Amino acid sequence: MRDSVSAYAATVAWVALAVSVPVQMAHAQGSFGPYVPTPTVIVDRLLEMGAVSGKDYLIDLGSGDGRIVITAAKKFGTHGHGIDIQDKLVALANQNATSEGVADKVRFVRGDIMEADLSQATVITTYLLPSTITRLVPKFLAELKPGTRIVSHDYPINPLTYEKVVSFDVDEKVRISGTKLTVIYLYVIPARVSGEWDLNLAPLAATAKPLTVRIDQQADSLSGIVESAGTRIPLRDLKVSGEEISFAYGSGATGIVALHGTVKGGEMSGTVVSGTSLAKTWSARRK
Ligand SMILES: C[S@@+](CC[C@H](N)C(=O)[O-])C[C@H]1O[C@@H](n2cnc3c(N)ncnc32)[C@H](O)[C@@H]1O
Repeated sequence: MRDSVSAYAATVAWVALAVSVPVQMAHAQGSFGPYVPTPTVIVDRLLEMGAVSGKDYLIDLGSGDGRIVITAAKKFGTHGHGIDIQDKLVALANQNATSEGVADKVRFVRGDIMEADLSQATVITTYLLPSTITRLVPKFLAELKPGTRIVSHDYPINPLTYEKVVSFDVDEKVRISGTKLTVIYLYVIPARVSGEWDLNLAPLAATAKPLTVRIDQQADSLSGIVESAGTRIPLRDLKVSGEEISFAYGSGATGIVALHGTVKGGEMSGTVVSGTSLAKTWSARRK
């Protein structure tokens, strides 16, 4: 695949500039942002970070010569597609998929990632400039299923909060970004939990009053309260990762109730994992 990239680069001057001279990717923008292929050693780390498997459907946003989707198909049997705005790169990627024997699993389409339908993805990969990536955030939150992983090479997806970040040195990166440093960010699309929920703890004490949980979930923040008989108690340690949720309320004086569970649309349920509450399980329904 590298040979095809070199051959292609030789015929397209600005691509050659991007791949063969020291250049800060952030400063080498063409009209669609630069084409800079991810070094193969980093492709492997991206797939590892995203825990990509044969069960996934992978979409690479701005797919270049197709190497990320093609490598996943070859290593794990992953199905997927790539989207790129440049016809020549799309043609090259489809040619590479055929020559690598995975054209039955992957395909590459010409399009603008801002307009593409991403709902099929279980994993998204990106190597895009921050200005492009940030514009994708509302689309990610609207279209991607809870639990979908997004793996981003070098650039954080602000203002989302990453689940994991790793950094390491790669010699090949010096001619791309002027430094060996490579960073990979992993994000997991959270279940939508904003709003008001009726919370039931079980078994309920005979005297127990109904509880209301209110959650405010934004791209960059998550907070909530539990309300009982007019008293509002802030939720502590509220975390949503994919379909998993956990939170706690109370204090050392009154007793801390810690809950862990899963979110499925308008229902949540799980176990009471610690605390002084006699309850063993919980469920909540969106009001
Ligand atoms: C840095 S390259 C990454 C290529 C490939 N994902 C990789 O990691 O090897 C970014 C690619 O995104 C494409 N691109 C940039 N903006 C795009 C847009 N709005 N829609 C589709 N493709 C875009 C560029 O043409 C370029 O091929």
